Amino acid sequence: MFGRSALFATASAGLLSISAAQSATNGSVITTDSPFYGQSPPTYPAPEVRRDGLFAESVAKARALVATMTLEEKVNLTGGVTNPGNGCGGNIPAVPSIGFPGMCLQDGPAGVRGTDFVSGFAAGIHTGASWNRTLAYSRANAMGGEAYRKGVSVALGPPVVGPLGRIAEGGRNWEGFSNDPYLSGALAAESVHGIQDAGVIACTKHFIANEQETNRIATRDGNKTYQSSSTNMDDKTLYLWPFADTVHAGTGSVMCSYERFNNSYVCQNSKLINGVLKTELGFEGFVVTDWFAQHSGVASSLAGLDMTMPSGATYWAGNLTQAVRNGSVPEARIDDQATRILAAWYELGLDSDSSPGVGVGMAPDLLAPHTIVDARDAADAEVILGEAIEGHVLVKNVNNALPLKEPRAIALYGYDAKAPDYNAPSPGLSPWSISLQSTDATSPICGFYGLVASACPPFPINAPNGSIWVGGGSGGNTPTYFYSPFQAFSERAFQDGTQLLWDFENVNATSTVYGNTEACFVFINAMASEGIDRSGLHDDFSDSLVNNIADQCSNTTVVVHNAGIALVDAYYDHPNVTAIILAQLPGQDSGRALVDIVYGEISPSGKLTYTVAKNESDYGAILSPYRPSAQDAIYPQDDFSEGVYIDYRAFDAQNIEPRFEFGFGLTYTNFTYSNLRISANSSATLSQYPTDGIIPGGHADLWDVVYNVYADVKNTGEAIAAEIAQLYLGLPGDGQPIRQLRGFDKQWLNVGETVTMGFPLRRRDLSTWSVEAQQWELAPGGTYKVYVGASSRNLPLTGSFTLGKSGNGTAGGYWK
Ligand code: BGC
Repeated sequence: MFGRSALFATASAGLLSISAAQSATNGSVITTDSPFYGQSPPTYPAPEVRRDGLFAESVAKARALVATMTLEEKVNLTGGVTNPGNGCGGNIPAVPSIGFPGMCLQDGPAGVRGTDFVSGFAAGIHTGASWNRTLAYSRANAMGGEAYRKGVSVALGPPVVGPLGRIAEGGRNWEGFSNDPYLSGALAAESVHGIQDAGVIACTKHFIANEQETNRIATRDGNKTYQSSSTNMDDKTLYLWPFADTVHAGTGSVMCSYERFNNSYVCQNSKLINGVLKTELGFEGFVVTDWFAQHSGVASSLAGLDMTMPSGATYWAGNLTQAVRNGSVPEARIDDQATRILAAWYELGLDSDSSPGVGVGMAPDLLAPHTIVDARDAADAEVILGEAIEGHVLVKNVNNALPLKEPRAIALYGYDAKAPDYNAPSPGLSPWSISLQSTDATSPICGFYGLVASACPPFPINAPNGSIWVGGGSGGNTPTYFYSPFQAFSERAFQDGTQLLWDFENVNATSTVYGNTEACFVFINAMASEGIDRSGLHDDFSDSLVNNIADQCSNTTVVVHNAGIALVDAYYDHPNVTAIILAQLPGQDSGRALVDIVYGEISPSGKLTYTVAKNESDYGAILSPYRPSAQDAIYPQDDFSEGVYIDYRAFDAQNIEPRFEFGFGLTYTNFTYSNLRISANSSATLSQYPTDGIIPGGHADLWDVVYNVYADVKNTGEAIAAEIAQLYLGLPGDGQPIRQLRGFDKQWLNVGETVTMGFPLRRRDLSTWSVEAQQWELAPGGTYKVYVGASSRNLPLTGSFTLGKSGNGTAGGYWK
């Protein structure tokens, strides 16, 4: 069995095993979902928000207000309406009688999307690669500030912690930080704090196991309806870990996802919402649907759903009022829905008179003249550039090809060096509004509308019409400007008097290289979007472009802007490819950040948050999304049978050598590791299972630090640079992954400097989910292996500790 400790988790009555889904169908074509009933156990009633919790004061205010409201008014708070007065993606109507001005919900995870005078922040994948908690906080705080000034009440991400990145070709993996749950959760928690400290409700999405775009929404073909894919898993695999981090951080809302889970739509899945989220994790905020992800009225309300978007009219509104009047839904449930929504609103101070008006800066029609609300703050410029820099990952650098050494002549190649040809809004779901200017948006848009997959053309692997700084879809952004690599190199050439040559036109990749060129840069990309999964992790056109230039240029640096995993093996061994940068998705300051790095103004400091394989096939069955057969076409059954063995856990378990392992990244200096210290926290007492009550995020004692690990890291090279030291644990017990990330620390080091990196280990970091006990469990007498180093496969320091077996005492000694 798999350790839920690694990724994931769940509560009381366990979820059924996957085999139940398979055997229920008996091999015949599935035309009804009745054989699956009960696979997601009914969990009722919906828990009322607690009055003595994290949001206690706000809950008290909300309850007092709700007590004054009519049933209709309360129901109105629970469903979206169209508001012609603003351009918000979702609106909750005002309730004038109680002085509630309404709410604006707007994407997204990399900045306020689809409007003007906002910044284009680096995408999640890029921020993840910085492994920088402070930066993750500052980025989210800056983003929250922009949302606040635009009158956005609920920022729909960050954080995105689902998809986590199970499927290597997943269309939306780039929206989140990493496919490792520990790293994802750590940066997601910072993001919640960052957004909410700016006075905006964070919406953590997409709950839960929303791991692919293919069949994410129900589709109609003539008179046939194909249901969303059902993500089937046992109760150890549940992708919960990073959600727990965000609940612990106090996220005001959580978005339930499109797909079915163990054959029950997530937004009406009582086990997941009432059971896991609101009971096991003690979530005190409200649950909102993904757009059009509601599939029932009474059932979804009883299952714990609090708000539906973008419209209440389909299932709730008058229907919900009627459901209360005829006794199908207790009014107390509506009270709790309204209380949770208003409590989050109070908690973030959105009731304040000084709050900007709801949606005030979200012009409904950008093509018509409108009042400018400039949401940007000049003070955020450093954060925006800083995150852009820190997410670049240098993965090859032969003989210190980089940084450049005052080159006289540089040549640039490739379709990804220059800005796309337009940055101009057009109405509706346009390529501009979802950051798809550099490619053909047909297939993602087709996916948005839920057309059958066969009607949507495959999505091109690269975006050939210009550089990409973010992926496509609701996670995209619409910056005021885009600083392309070409522009940044041009400015540097102006400054230094460099001869700059370029050829972005030669689409057959047979460009010829100017004789005195000292360094060639080839820009390619790997695009991904919401709405459709990727159709590969490399493309032949880009690879041959690189090889053709490298054949002619002895010092070729490849820059890949990648919205997900990008393979490099087609050119990795080319002797003239002297450097490769996985430049990911840096946001609006892309070119500036890159030029600062390649000219050595700052050392690269990013590391990979996923595994780059040598071949696509190394990812095995979870390379590509699940595509149903004729048997399960109507009720697709996507079994997560690999358990927690995704990415490096799978590569480690199967002993597959990656091209670049999880956690890998180079810089302009070298580091050595020494002096591993492991100490038990003498004030932490332990028992096999947690004993404290539930706080947001789970049992309070799961969050206690029980061990501390330290290691010394020395900068032995010749450049100031940052190191990201990583701690992995080998947990005791059968069936555990060989290693799992359980700590990281990033610090900048001067030449010759030694610093101590610290890794606090919480009880949850040492625990695995026990199916029998339905609890997080420590291993009495178990030996925990400790590995510290520079990546998941470069771990020079090893040690271990053993938990005590009995008695009362400390972590290293005894048990309660
Ligand atoms: C996406 C969400 C997004 C919503 C509103 C949906 O298609 O899945 O992530 O927040 O649209 O734009």
